[in-house]
Amino acid sequence: MKAITVEPKKPGTAKLMDIPEPGVHEGSVLVQAVAVGVCGTDVEIVEGKYGWAPPGQKHLVLGHESLGRVIDPGPTSGLKKGDLVVGIVRRPDPVPCPNCAVGEWDMCSNGLYTERGIKEINGYMSEYWRIEPEYAIKVDPTLGLLGVLLEPSSVVAKALEQVGLIGRRSFWEPRTALITGAGPIGLLAALFAKLYGLDVHVLDRAAGGLKVDLVRELGATYHSGSVKDLDFEPDTIIECTGVGQVIAESIQRIGANGIVCLAGIGHGGASPTSSIADVASAAVLRNNVIVGSVNANKRHWYRASQYLARADRGWLTKLITRIEKPENFMKALQRSPDDIKVVIQFSDI
Ligand code: BGC
Repeated sequence: MKAITVEPKKPGTAKLMDIPEPGVHEGSVLVQAVAVGVCGTDVEIVEGKYGWAPPGQKHLVLGHESLGRVIDPGPTSGLKKGDLVVGIVRRPDPVPCPNCAVGEWDMCSNGLYTERGIKEINGYMSEYWRIEPEYAIKVDPTLGLLGVLLEPSSVVAKALEQVGLIGRRSFWEPRTALITGAGPIGLLAALFAKLYGLDVHVLDRAAGGLKVDLVRELGATYHSGSVKDLDFEPDTIIECTGVGQVIAESIQRIGANGIVCLAGIGHGGASPTSSIADVASAAVLRNNVIVGSVNANKRHWYRASQYLARADRGWLTKLITRIEKPENFMKALQRSPDDIKVVIQFSDI
């Protein structure tokens, strides 16, 4: 079968190649790939900056934002042939650490977790894949191709849960949320914060176009300047850019007792114009919490599927700005400024 693979840490090695169909040891549920979303992590892996092949192997099959159709549900899954499913990304570490032992692998404390398509387990960019029943999430069939948005949605559901849990350390009645970055994670965060009833603001570099329209269609407010110029103090900021200056300004702009949740993974770039001490003292003097959030456990996947099922399908459809064929995977990995979510489609929905 065809699969999109990479030799991790070697730039320029991504290719579409023939690999054997997955064996039953990889999971009792056999799935035909429908589509796989592309994200910044995939780009980093292809650029040789991130990613690990399965032990003893040269190639890693890419892809962690899956959507597939059950071909063979196996003896124990309770799934039916034809069901749409998405595969969870992370697997607990084998020790296991206390968090992995209780199913909170997103909070793995020894770093020995594995991740499909990222760290030591093949991903979902192959014509067929197998999955263990407990890591297969059944997708509302009315979502169709939009089910491919479940993985980024799970990451957002976890970030919002973290904010809610932390908020309860004091009297917590959040009203205003700022989302920095109007990529897929930022827009899904705006959608979910809106469903939660918050006054939502989204800030991005784009001065016009689809991102602006999508934010306005949600009934949220769009800003294209810098965080420091905003004339309000949000209770919550979900930082999705990973850009140093935006992070520093977010910490200085958050309201008293507010929470800045860092969900973007950035590297390098220019140093912020404020010193770390100035940024930190703004947080100290106003009891702020700055929290990092990565990945998602089953609870978040469940919540994400509920949020998606409630969302407007027309709005969600506009998030998928480009669909490429597997043979054009390199085009899918090159993001243009107009792209929000690019997906590689393996078979008809
Ligand atoms: C994925 C997460 C993963 C993280 C770090 C992100 O792109 O969505 O599931 O934990 O990368 O590898």
